[in-house]
Amino acid sequence: MNDFILDFNNVDVYQKDLRVLADVNFRIARGQFTYLIGRVGSGKSSLIKVINGELPVRTGDARVMDFQLNGLSNKNIPYLRRRIGVVFQDFQLLTDRSVYQNLQFVLKATGWTNKRDLEFRIDEVLYRVGLSDKKDSMPYRLSGGEQQRVAIARALLNNPEIILADEPTGNLDPDTGEHVMRIILDLSKETGITVLMATHNYNILKNFPARILKCENQRLSEAVMPSEEDLRNKLIKFGMSKGYEYELVYETVMKMYSNI
Ligand SMILES: Nc1ncnc2c1ncn2[C@@H]1O[C@H](COP(=O)(O)OP(=O)(O)OP(=O)(O)O)[C@@H](O)[C@H]1O
Ligand SMILES: [Mg+2]
Repeated sequence: MNDFILDFNNVDVYQKDLRVLADVNFRIARGQFTYLIGRVGSGKSSLIKVINGELPVRTGDARVMDFQLNGLSNKNIPYLRRRIGVVFQDFQLLTDRSVYQNLQFVLKATGWTNKRDLEFRIDEVLYRVGLSDKKDSMPYRLSGGEQQRVAIARALLNNPEIILADEPTGNLDPDTGEHVMRIILDLSKETGITVLMATHNYNILKNFPARILKCENQRLSEAVMPSEEDLRNKLIKFGMSKGYEYELVYETVMKMYSNI
């Protein structure tokens, strides 16, 4: 068996009657970190929802782990979701209970009953995101970055094979966003979790290069970013060397390529 954890062939993605993406074809190898980019409304979140079983696969053939999404019955959707961790831009923590209770809620909802196992697992995931000391805090007492780290910890509770992150740094300032980004990247490197992350954040693409899939004109394609070296050589040909002007042109060209 091949080791692609996601395998999409000729899939159309619909939101109600609107076809958002047509003829989607891509594969992601187990453990790979991949960005998903594209303009507002281009279909990033919709694709994530298909992977998570929130939107059905009406045409084509899609597999996520060992779940065939076309023809997936409703009763199997919870089993699919249990093996996928999701992280959103707006954290989506329950505001009326502590960090610990937020995590406990998810574990109980997914069938954990043994109190000691539950406590142990919560300690583990909070340690993983560097928040062991915030167990009893209420979410509104935490910074945005801390809240997002709780959301990541929550996504990890059931040992998922895939993390789907929909603009996880979208509400964070640049430094905090980079910190959260490092946590997600470390997770993917150290635990082998496959990550698909939608982002509009050009600086993150630049600072943490990885494979990029791009939604554009209803299509999903591989985005090839020029390397800084290639671009610099081209700009030198046009008489531009390092400096303010070069930086400006470089940023503009890179943004054009990434189309965000
Ligand atoms: N629940 C919905 N019902 C109907 N149409 C929707 C729904 N959600 C999204 N759409 C439409 O589907 C298209 C793709 O939206 P989607 O949210 O996937 O884009 P996106 O790339 O995630 O955008 P953003 O960068 O703003 O998050 C848009 O035209 C949007 O209006
Ligand atoms: Mg979106």
